[in-house]
Amino acid sequence: MSKPRLFSGIQPSSDSLHLGNYIGALLQWRELQRDHDAFFCVVDLHAITVPQDPKELAAKTRRTAAQYIAAGIDPTASTLYVQSHVPAHAELAWVLNTITGFGEAGRMTQFKDKSSRYGAEATSVGLFTYPVLMAADILLYDAEVVPVGDDQRQHVELTRDLAERFNSRFGETFVVPKALIQKDTARIYDLQNPTSKMSKSADSVTGLILLLDEPSVTRKKIMRAVTDTDAVIRFDRDAKPGVSNLLAIYAALSGQTIETVSAEYEGKGYGDLKKGLAEVVIGEFEPVRARALELLDDPAELDRLLAANAGRASEVADATLAKAYERVGF
Ligand code: ADP
Ligand code: NA
Repeated sequence: MSKPRLFSGIQPSSDSLHLGNYIGALLQWRELQRDHDAFFCVVDLHAITVPQDPKELAAKTRRTAAQYIAAGIDPTASTLYVQSHVPAHAELAWVLNTITGFGEAGRMTQFKDKSSRYGAEATSVGLFTYPVLMAADILLYDAEVVPVGDDQRQHVELTRDLAERFNSRFGETFVVPKALIQKDTARIYDLQNPTSKMSKSADSVTGLILLLDEPSVTRKKIMRAVTDTDAVIRFDRDAKPGVSNLLAIYAALSGQTIETVSAEYEGKGYGDLKKGLAEVVIGEFEPVRARALELLDDPAELDRLLAANAGRASEVADATLAKAYERVGF
């Protein structure tokens, strides 16, 4: 029996992925790739929907791919490729644009958030149709499963609506996918501002733990994490967001439950928890960082690998696109 198809991706919009990406996406992907036919994409077409530096994009794309592999995505078992290497993404997105309602696209909350952050002048039509491109990404591969954070739930819903609409208007063409929403405990918060999600677009860099940070930098950031004044180690997201975030990170990386970690640190100080956590994070990230840097030392080899994977992705994507083109009458 063939394995169910899976699609997911991350934008190459920074030099290093962060702890939120690692726990919320890469750790899950690594598990899911075993029993899925997985397509993991570096979504560079999405990255140009907001202001970006063209001199840096190719390097960020390579770095993101290297981090996927270093974190355990197997580029021979899974298809790990760069979105712009497979033209079918942009081509199917165009077709899907023509069946997406203007008002429907306007209801996407991520667009509202991002456009208000960048302002009207810097808000492109590309940012507006970003969810339609994401629908194309997913539908090209007949993906049944789409692992995403909660903030992408609405985009996967739109993808389902577009797939069903296309199928009923033009004939059975697309598989209707399902979102696999990450667990609550996989959501990681900023260490300086533990009620906001850890994000590359955060204001404070000290709240952001990067996969490619030097261990000494990681240790410093964790030791400076915001906690509270009552000096009790207990998991309570509402009353103790800082401490709870540290416990959740510890549990996710050590494979223990939050209860076990809390029990282990009961009665100890925040300094002890932070020291222990720094060791766990550094122990997890060091081999990943070393492997990523090694891959980046040989960009020609990495490019060859990505080209071969793009070839594999294209075979699947081109067949779906051809079917969709035929359905609309091309
Ligand atoms: P960012 O928020 O830094 O822009 P992306 O939106 O590019 O990150 O997210 C890429 C992937 O990483 C998605 O699957 C998303 O759900 C996951 N992710 C991002 N930030 C976090 C976080 N703080 N906690 C858990 N998962 C996250
Ligand atoms: Na995001």
